[in-house]
Amino acid sequence: MFVVAGGSACSPPAPGGGALGLQGRRREAEHTRSTGPPAFQDTPAAMNNATAVLGPSQRWLTPFKRYVSQSAPRLVVIPTWQCELRCRYCFIPKQDGRVMTHRTLERSIDMLLASDRDQVILQFFGGEALIEWDLVQHAIRYGTEHAKKWGKRIRYIISSNGWSIDEDKLTWLRDFDVKLELSLDGNAETQNSFRRALKKGRDSYGEGIPEKAEMIQASGLDHEVIMVVHPEAVDRMPANFFHIVGLGYPRVQINFALGFIWTPEQKQAFAKGLHQIGAELKTRWAQGHDVTLVNLEGAPMPIRLNGEITVDWDGTVYGGNAFLHETKHKQNFVIGHLNDLGSFDRYWMDSPPNEYLLDWSYPPDVTKNNLDVGRIFTSFHRWMHLQTAEQKRAPTGAIDRPS
Ligand SMILES: C[S@@+](CC[C@H](N)C(=O)[O-])C[C@H]1O[C@@H](n2cnc3c(N)ncnc32)[C@H](O)[C@@H]1O
Ligand code: SF4
Repeated sequence: MFVVAGGSACSPPAPGGGALGLQGRRREAEHTRSTGPPAFQDTPAAMNNATAVLGPSQRWLTPFKRYVSQSAPRLVVIPTWQCELRCRYCFIPKQDGRVMTHRTLERSIDMLLASDRDQVILQFFGGEALIEWDLVQHAIRYGTEHAKKWGKRIRYIISSNGWSIDEDKLTWLRDFDVKLELSLDGNAETQNSFRRALKKGRDSYGEGIPEKAEMIQASGLDHEVIMVVHPEAVDRMPANFFHIVGLGYPRVQINFALGFIWTPEQKQAFAKGLHQIGAELKTRWAQGHDVTLVNLEGAPMPIRLNGEITVDWDGTVYGGNAFLHETKHKQNFVIGHLNDLGSFDRYWMDSPPNEYLLDWSYPPDVTKNNLDVGRIFTSFHRWMHLQTAEQKRAPTGAIDRPS
C-alpha cells in the first residue's frame, strides 16, 4: 500500500517563478479551462519554457499538476489500530491503546477544511475504524458542521470489514455524504481462510457483509467491495468475484495481495482468471446486467499505492499509509505533525509519488515481483478496453462498461 515523503511540511513552496507565480498560473489555468484548452500542457514547447524558468521539472511538475487539478483532495485518518480480524496478508500490527482522541480528529478535519479546495474528502482507515463508532460519528458531525461554515462540500469514505455494520449505523450514516469501501474476499471458505477472525470460533464470513447486502443497498449509501486475492487463492478468483456479485454487490474491486512473492504458476493463473472474469463480464453486460469491475474505471497502472496524506492516531502526519506496516522505514514517511499547523494543500502537493512509495513499502525483490503481477492486470485492463471498443464498433448492442 504505501510511501516516502518527496517534500515536507517545512519545505518551501515549489518554485513559483515568472511573473505569475503559482497562484497566478492557477487562476489562469482555471480561467482557461472554462473557455478552451488548458494554458499549460505537457507539450515539448511548454515544457521547455517552463523548465527554463523553473528549473528541472522533477522539482515542480507534480505539485503544479496537483495544484491546477480539479480533483477533491483526500485526508486519511487512522482512528484506531485495532481490528476484529487478523487477515493473513494484512501487515498492520493490531494494537490496543492507539486510538485517536476527539480533539486530534477535530484538528485533522480543521487542517483538511483549511484547504483551498471547495470539495474535500475524509477517509476513515485503520485498523477497523467502525470499532470506534462514537469517534466516527463525532468526526462526521464536526466535519459537516464546519464544512458548512466554510462553504465547502465534505464527503466521507469509510473503509471497513463490515463486521459491526448494522441497521442503526446505516440509518445514521445516510444523512451524510458517505461512501462505504467494504472488504470481502469471496465465499465462506476463502473468507474464513484468508480473513480470519481474531477470536476462535467466530465466523468472518457470517459476521461480515454477505448477509448485509440488502440492508446496505436499502440504505442508499454509495458502496463497493474490495476483494483481495492471495496468491494461494488465485485459482478461485473468478468464482469468488462472481460470488460477491451474486450476494448483491455489483461493484467489486480486485486487489491482488501485495507483499508476497507470486510464483510463475500463480501469475499465470492470475492472468487466466482475469480473462475468465472479463469474458463473463462481457456476457453479462450484453445481457444488460449491472456489474462493474471497479479497477477498469481507473487508468491502467501496475501498482497504485495509497499516497494520500494520512494522520495517525497521535497526530503524526504521514505521506501515504505504508507507515502502518511499522517497518524500519516508518520514519521515512513522516511529513509533519498536527502541532506544526502545516498546510494541507502543501502536504498534498508534495505528497510522495508512486515510485517513492514502491521503493520503501516492500523489499525490492517483492516489489519487483508484485510489479510483474500488476503488469498482468494492466495488460488485461487494456485488453478489456480494446474489446469493448470493438464491440462498440460492431452493432451488437453490448454495453460499453469500462470507459
Ligand atoms: C488495511 S484495510 C483497513 C480497513 C478495514 N479494516 C478493511 O479491511 O476494509 C484496507 C484494505 O486493504 C486491504 N489489504 C490489506 N492488506 C493488503 C495487502 N497485503 N494487499 C492488498 N490489499 C490489502 C484490505 O483487504 C482492505 O480492503
Ligand atoms: S480487516 Fe482490515 S485492518 Fe483488519 S486485519 Fe483485515 S485488512 Fe487488516
